Amino acid sequence: MIPNEVINRILDKTDIVEIISSYVPLKKGGQNFKACCPFHKEKTPSFMVSPGKQIFHCFGCAAGGNVISFLMKHERMDFIEAITMLADKAGITVPRTGVTGKTKNTLADKLYGVNNLACNHYQENLAKEYSKVAGGYLIRRGITERMIKHFRLGFARDSWQGLINYCTAKGIELGMLEKAGLILGNAEGGNWYDRFRNRIIFPIFDLRNRAMGFGGRVLDDSLPKYINSPETYIYTKGRHLYGLNFSKEYIKKQNYAIIVEGYLDLIIPYQNDIRNIVATLGTALTLDQIGMLKRFTKNVIMVYDSDKAGEGATLRGLDLLIEQDMNVRIAVLPKGSDPDSFVRKEGKAGFMKILKESKDLFDYKLGTLTAKFKKDQPHSKARIVAEMLPTLSRIKNAVLKSGYLKKMAEELALDEDSIRTELKKVKPVYARDYLGPRDVENKKSVNQAELALLSMALEDAKFLRKIEEELGFEKIQDRHISTVMGKIDELRKKGKKITVSHLMSCFEDGKIEEIISEATSVAQTIKDKNKVLDDCFRYIKRDNLKKALNNIQSKIKEAEKASDTSKVTRLMSEYNELIKGFGK
Ligand code: UTP
Ligand code: MN
Repeated sequence: MIPNEVINRILDKTDIVEIISSYVPLKKGGQNFKACCPFHKEKTPSFMVSPGKQIFHCFGCAAGGNVISFLMKHERMDFIEAITMLADKAGITVPRTGVTGKTKNTLADKLYGVNNLACNHYQENLAKEYSKVAGGYLIRRGITERMIKHFRLGFARDSWQGLINYCTAKGIELGMLEKAGLILGNAEGGNWYDRFRNRIIFPIFDLRNRAMGFGGRVLDDSLPKYINSPETYIYTKGRHLYGLNFSKEYIKKQNYAIIVEGYLDLIIPYQNDIRNIVATLGTALTLDQIGMLKRFTKNVIMVYDSDKAGEGATLRGLDLLIEQDMNVRIAVLPKGSDPDSFVRKEGKAGFMKILKESKDLFDYKLGTLTAKFKKDQPHSKARIVAEMLPTLSRIKNAVLKSGYLKKMAEELALDEDSIRTELKKVKPVYARDYLGPRDVENKKSVNQAELALLSMALEDAKFLRKIEEELGFEKIQDRHISTVMGKIDELRKKGKKITVSHLMSCFEDGKIEEIISEATSVAQTIKDKNKVLDDCFRYIKRDNLKKALNNIQSKIKEAEKASDTSKVTRLMSEYNELIKGFGK
């Protein structure tokens, strides 16, 4: 919880241009700085950073905000992390108590609270059952008590209501447990029951050590081996890396990260003093995960068991890493072992040896492919080249690229020029194409007139007053815009100085920041403010009127269907009254 004054002080001492230019190459253009947008794919720059207003905005995908939002979006920091980083840079100490500008007790806070409670419950269960079934299992797997505490491992008893009873006794509502993905059932019948039963519990933490979700493993060979939390408001699959909260400092210090697949593949090495390690939890590495890792290192070693290592899909996924400028190496464990079993058998020294023998991704991929296809047959050569080219085309360093090309030509007994010719034909599928609609979907959905009004409200108190008098904030249809106007009004009435950047930090909703930044850029295009203001009022009033008329019309239809003539008459005269408004 950070006081608003402190946030504003930090913002005042920070230069958004300096911060953003350390991630994105900015070029000066007029009063602003420009670049190709880091949040969507484009060839000509539509990403602007304004030193005057201390905000950024993209005309292409509508991303926008202040320096805090930039760090949150680009570096995937959370609010506190971003503030802490900026405060450190500015030499400001952040007090951790006091009032906050953000709304307290948000849904996210509540869900973290519930998850924490569930963690406690599962931990207590484990402590009680330690010598018996659950603890016995963990001892068999070789996990020490210290690690059990460190990773907050727990146990869900073989009961349908264990967690429900524990949490409801503490005043937690069932609805909240359901939102946290911890219970299942149907609301009407009230047949709620615990999702995790008779399983070892692995909490999954975010970078601030808050439990976001859980995985639960059976104690025997039954299936499914693991069940996991569903996606919730605070937990999105593929957007986190298991263990990163514990390992990030080690990763930074040693400047590389070991990537494994499973919970125990992380915990057992960690216990054996191999701590620069994260786990993907069985899914293919995503861009989000790469983005998180990149904050701590550019070097990764993927550790696979030998069965999975050669799979085409896995290898193709790794091209993403190259494109993101990561140095990727692959380490392969002996057949039949995974990092967990291998480290238990061979210890840290054995594991380090495997890491040392790891191969550069390119060499590894080429090796796997030449072993799989006979490299002396022309069509298998073509096949190998086809698989290798996308990887090659992603390597940005020209020297490296030509070195690899040469190596490949030698290995396959082909001439370099023919590979080069094929390489030119490759159109790489950019990683951003995989991003999906999440980052671009909110493009241009805001009512333009309301946006123009907001841009003027931001500029001058007299415009805001006029909007209130002529229209009233409640007539604004876009609830984000009306919220912002309400906030400006509130701050003005308190006599506070308002800057766009300060205003943005009052809201937790990223959408609002984008709207503010868009409104700010719209402002620059408006010349005759008063005329535009009047046009907007007229436009919005008409639009509201249209909606009201449509509404009555459908009511009239209904009344006609029901043969309610008196109602039809009443509605008709209402309609006629309203329609006069169009004349004005
Ligand atoms: P593995 O099958 O390799 O399991 O799946 P593991 O981690 O080695 O587990 P142990 O050693 O048998 O206990 C790797 C990861 O994939 C996810 C889990 O996160 C697991 O750690 N997974 C696996 C699931 O989510 N569900 C499953 O049914 C299986
Ligand atoms: Mn395993």
